Amino acid sequence: MARRKPGEGQTALVTGASAGIGVDLAECFAKDGYDLILTARSEGALQEVANRLSAAHGVKAHTVAQDLGAFGGGSAVAAAIAAKGLNVDVVVNNAGYGHAGALTSSDLQTQLGMIDLNVRALVELTYIYWDRMLANKRGGVINVASTAAFQPGPLMANYYASKAYVLSFSEAMWEEARGTGVHVSCLCPGPTVSKFRERAGTGKTNLGQRSKAVPSAPVARAGYNAWKQNRAVIVTGGRQRLPSRPGEIPPAQNAAEDRAQRSIAGDVSMERRRPRRLFC
Ligand SMILES: NC(=O)c1ccc[n+]([C@@H]2O[C@H](COP(=O)([O-])OP(=O)(O)OC[C@H]3O[C@@H](n4cnc5c(N)ncnc54)[C@H](OP(=O)(O)O)[C@@H]3O)[C@@H](O)[C@H]2O)c1
Repeated sequence: MARRKPGEGQTALVTGASAGIGVDLAECFAKDGYDLILTARSEGALQEVANRLSAAHGVKAHTVAQDLGAFGGGSAVAAAIAAKGLNVDVVVNNAGYGHAGALTSSDLQTQLGMIDLNVRALVELTYIYWDRMLANKRGGVINVASTAAFQPGPLMANYYASKAYVLSFSEAMWEEARGTGVHVSCLCPGPTVSKFRERAGTGKTNLGQRSKAVPSAPVARAGYNAWKQNRAVIVTGGRQRLPSRPGEIPPAQNAAEDRAQRSIAGDVSMERRRPRRLFC
């Protein structure tokens, strides 16, 4: 008799699953036998991913097309899931975008939309499924932040701040779930090949030129494996170090050191730093 896969009988909801890291995160779960619910705005792309993953891994893959940046977007996704008679065991909050440039003369809706998608929808979906996870003593959450989460980012201030929120929230939820069987991990990728840079407009910046983007599949795998082990924080991106000078590290370093102990960051140093203009 074939061995049962660890995810059989469970369902993972993956946001931002029409492109980029979200597709690879969805595939990690499918390989382990999880059924999938894939959400993003692009219905056609979602359906293609769902068809491919269900055929390749023999799992059920459902789609819900929804703008998660819209007010109540998370609740609308949950309502659509309930209407299909489905349950959610794992939430992968991956959908997000960035925008490079100074706050002055930027578009307010682009700025607020980042908070609505990167933060608000992430909290909403976590909240909706959290009690069920605790009651079931299994499942959990993967939140996708960024290496941007570890320091303020002038000229991309709102994006960095949104990811700092995601990191802080995730670490706190990891602690709240400790010992319950519910796993929480915050995946903090460095530059990764996807459509992110195109939308964010970071490709031609100094940092964009200097840093080498890594493929999204290993980033997703590292995040998924860290989540299986209930590691609170996982930083990916190889040898990319953000610039820092000795003496520039404020007292919050202790918290960062504590984090580093729980991450499998290997060769990546991520101390909390004073603001530097990384994107000029
Ligand atoms: N790539 C990087 O260098 C990098 C580095 C650090 C962190 N990250 C983070 O990784 C996550 C995934 O990004 P990615 O690199 O894979 O970028 P991506 O290729 O642009 O994918 C973003 C995903 O989010 C979805 N999305 C965007 N706006 C949405 C909205 N309003 N409502 C619902 N879904 C929406 C997109 O689908 P639709 O357009 O179809 O809605 C797409 O599926 C993001 O949270 C990003 O901040 C990326």
